[in-house]
Amino acid sequence: MCGIIGYVGTEAAVPLLLAGLQRLEYRGYDSAGIAVLENGKMAVFRRAGKVEELAREIGRETIDACVGIGHTRWATHGAPTEENAHPHLDCNGKIAVVHNGIIENFRALKERLAAAGHVFRSQTDTETLAHLIEEHNRGDILAAVRLAVSEAEGAYALAVLSEDDPERIIVARKGSPLVLGKGKTGSFVCSDIPAILGNASDVLFLAEGEVAEVRSTGFRVFSRDGEEREPKIRPVTIDPFSIQKGGYKHFMAKEIHEQPRAVGETIRERIHPDGVGFPELGFLGDQSTEAGFARVYLVACGTAYHAAMTAEYQWETLLGLPVQAVIASEFRHRDIPVDPRTLVIAVSQSGETIDTLVATRRAKAGGAKVVALVNTVNSALERESDAAVYTRAGIEVGVAATKTFTAQLAALSLLGLCLARAWGKILPQDMAERIAPFELLPARIATVLGLEKQVVQLAEKFYTASDFLFLARGSLYPIALEGALKLKEISYIHAEGYPAGEMKHGPIALIDERMPVVVLATKRSAYNKTLSNIEEVRARNGIVIAITDHPDDEAILRLSNHIIPIPDSEEIVIPVLYTIPLQLLAYHVAVLRGTDVDQPRNLAKTVTVE
Ligand code: G6P
Repeated sequence: MCGIIGYVGTEAAVPLLLAGLQRLEYRGYDSAGIAVLENGKMAVFRRAGKVEELAREIGRETIDACVGIGHTRWATHGAPTEENAHPHLDCNGKIAVVHNGIIENFRALKERLAAAGHVFRSQTDTETLAHLIEEHNRGDILAAVRLAVSEAEGAYALAVLSEDDPERIIVARKGSPLVLGKGKTGSFVCSDIPAILGNASDVLFLAEGEVAEVRSTGFRVFSRDGEEREPKIRPVTIDPFSIQKGGYKHFMAKEIHEQPRAVGETIRERIHPDGVGFPELGFLGDQSTEAGFARVYLVACGTAYHAAMTAEYQWETLLGLPVQAVIASEFRHRDIPVDPRTLVIAVSQSGETIDTLVATRRAKAGGAKVVALVNTVNSALERESDAAVYTRAGIEVGVAATKTFTAQLAALSLLGLCLARAWGKILPQDMAERIAPFELLPARIATVLGLEKQVVQLAEKFYTASDFLFLARGSLYPIALEGALKLKEISYIHAEGYPAGEMKHGPIALIDERMPVVVLATKRSAYNKTLSNIEEVRARNGIVIAITDHPDDEAILRLSNHIIPIPDSEEIVIPVLYTIPLQLLAYHVAVLRGTDVDQPRNLAKTVTVE
């Protein structure tokens, strides 16, 4: 994981580097550091903890430097201490390296370099690169980096600064992302565009295996073999407002409230008066279930996996063939049948999650067709898939996924309808009726957001609870899992999601008068059975918080301690609507507990380690 930044130009580098690192903290925030050339000399500042800590330390010094590199870390090799924080230096302290990824053969390289006299000061794999570059350095740092990376196995995005070559930063990538940016006062390198938004007007996405030099005036890009390539520069089109809090206390709150738009944008480009369009997937329509696909897997991690699971429930009904959601990190280790009649949908906000990428490679090796459902354009997952479908949620900064999740739910439901139509499972004349609920969905999300005050009251009542249980049936079961995950992630309260019918087989033992049980009870599916589960909770003195589209029903009114009403909607869109109060509950509980909502402990938004 980790975030990288670099700047070379005519402005003071330190504020640009620190601001960029702060915007990259979603990639990790265990420790941070920068290296700059101050009056031609390498100066390194590192701190365990967040970028804020580093900024506080540096604040006391005036640094006159117009070139530098920086890093925010999510620890893999070596504890999150100052000595393991990047940048890492060679023996002479003249070459500084920041790195995102894992050098898998670092132990062998380290042994060799140590035997040759190199002195190591950290436990990281990255420091090996600094010494390896030193070893290969014959006066041309670009050549030295190229030789060093040719020996490195694993994944890397790196930026290298040399005291002996102060006019340029050398960068290289394989497996981890790297973007070069050009602004009015100089050039940048970073892991992701938000880091340089507002400062750079044009960008270049470095391709796999490329090495580049970044100068104040522009870039030169080289292939792995040293052949110079024409840089493919494109304008930045992202609105800088998307990375500001816009009056909200936290990005998560802003992103929760952006859902009518995020879902609306995702839907808008797909639906037309009599159908659903995914033109980028034209090739799938030709494969009828008889002659073409025999099964579908949806692979994903974390919150995206809950979207995949919801699609599993919806698609098995729509498509009439086996559909299975599989956690990506499990997919590669299982002997799941994969062949050319297998369709795999890889669901990921970032398109960078390594477990999802590895699962995708395993599926492709077996002959499957892979479609990526991603929110980030130009990601590794997109490049490795046969086709990509975008959710249009916009940049999500909060580590806990919210608007990207509901956008995934909406996109997957529509994709399911599209495939069902293409494969003859839905008649053309029935499509308009199927699509109608999606047209109403953004407004209905807004209605549910209007219930925030009621959710705040619940949060005030229950924020000191030590455990929560979330129960649901059918396609709302993955939403119960997501509700529990959100609460765990940002409030650190232990929470479990369970199929309501499964409660009696274990979790019921946990229920007493202190246990809040959130029940998602829709009249659209198994309502009476869910009511029975509520009875079981009440019989054991548990506290029932019912979220329901049947709020006037006498039974639920009688049995529940608290009710949050949801607008009555067609089954295909209710997972989106039931998600909203659960996000709000997790958010307000976390705020009341005083946790770091946007950057919860130990987590990172983009997980590029297995
Ligand atoms: C991390 C994040 C989660 C996210 C998961 C998958 O664990 O903290 O919020 O759901 O990765 O990320 P992806 O980018 O593949 O959706």
